[in-house]
Amino acid sequence: MKKLTEKVNGARIAERIDQLSRCSEPAIGVTRLSFTKEFQCAQNMVEQWMLEAGMTVRKDSLNNLIGRYEGSNPNAPVLMIGSHLDTVIEGGKFDGMLGIVTGIEIVAVLFETGIILENPIEVIAFCDEEGVRFHSTFLGSKAIAGTLKREELEVKDDEGITLANAIKELGLDPLNYKEAARVPEEVLAYIELHIEQGPVLQAEEIPCGVVTGIAGASRYSFTIEGFAGHAGTVPHTLRKDALAGSAELVLEIERLAKENAPIVATVGKLSVKPGSSNVIAGEVAGTIDIRDTDERRKRKVLEAIFQSGEEIASHRGLKIHFEKVMEVSPVLCSEELIPIIESSIRENGMDPVRLISGAGHDAMAMADLTKVGMIFVRCRDGISHHPDEHASLEDMEIGARVLLDTVLQVIHSKVAAKTEV
Ligand code: GLV
Ligand code: MN
Ligand code: MN
Repeated sequence: MKKLTEKVNGARIAERIDQLSRCSEPAIGVTRLSFTKEFQCAQNMVEQWMLEAGMTVRKDSLNNLIGRYEGSNPNAPVLMIGSHLDTVIEGGKFDGMLGIVTGIEIVAVLFETGIILENPIEVIAFCDEEGVRFHSTFLGSKAIAGTLKREELEVKDDEGITLANAIKELGLDPLNYKEAARVPEEVLAYIELHIEQGPVLQAEEIPCGVVTGIAGASRYSFTIEGFAGHAGTVPHTLRKDALAGSAELVLEIERLAKENAPIVATVGKLSVKPGSSNVIAGEVAGTIDIRDTDERRKRKVLEAIFQSGEEIASHRGLKIHFEKVMEVSPVLCSEELIPIIESSIRENGMDPVRLISGAGHDAMAMADLTKVGMIFVRCRDGISHHPDEHASLEDMEIGARVLLDTVLQVIHSKVAAKTEV
């Protein structure tokens, strides 16, 4: 007889990943920001697949899409599987989507085989993990974990639209955000499958790995104020060039990060005003994203960045201002789930490799609610947040098998529901 995990259909996974990638702004790669019509398009597809896999589907008060496959004991705590449906600008088609599509795939296998497990399973397509639109990450998973704060409804996108207004436009009441929150007693665990977004599994020549922890991240914005002027008439000695000051700061951030490896720090966005080839830049706004598994080292490097910023500004006659946009602490994956995932990887004929995630994941927010476990799937050349992001059909299928084995083992071993946070 065919093993249950052999019923996992890699071609169906690959086909759905392709279909989802069509819900995008017209650009290279995939651009699908939260609470947009492209996002709604993806939700509609996912909803349909969830229904076909025997799930009931609902949207919670923050626009997370949740498919539920009932267990034989509907009062047993729910095993959650999920990832995000939003993307970065000109991103790939696997980041986030793979966790949702494989979650639906394994439920489809159970449904098509007529298997009902004791615990209910919920597959969650989170509404905003990347934080691209509102510059603040994990809005959906924080709402479910019960850690979203009232003031986070006021975060704004670049057009000045608040999260509250984006929620209202969908016909939902933002003040109901607390209704999305779940309680720890109702949840058995959270498992997320994701592409690795790094090169380790490829180097190890193995399709899957188990994540032991996720690096903490901070995002800051900075504004450098100078004085705009004529590019032809103002001598360099008299300039207050906000862009030249920013360039110095960007290089200083890179130097500090390299000096404190493995910390990574990125300035991914600069907006220059007035932004004209013949005008000296009067103001620059930029972003800093900094990540490390060591909170103290991250804090130390951040302090050094702030100090360098002040020095550069004073030396160039500029004004500088830093502002914290978000901060998440590093998260450890559950010591109960890691060996279960490892044994599922072994069960599928591989030697498990342990990895740390440098990328952020909804699992970080979900760790405030329940035990979290993560499975990584190899991606080509470690490329991610880029249109060339790629995972092979075979690797996705193996990943989904590992996910299914993990779910079966977790439910059979009944990882104790987390009762305190
Ligand atoms: C999300 O992918 C992040 O790590 O920024
Ligand atoms: Mn991402
Ligand atoms: Mn992701």
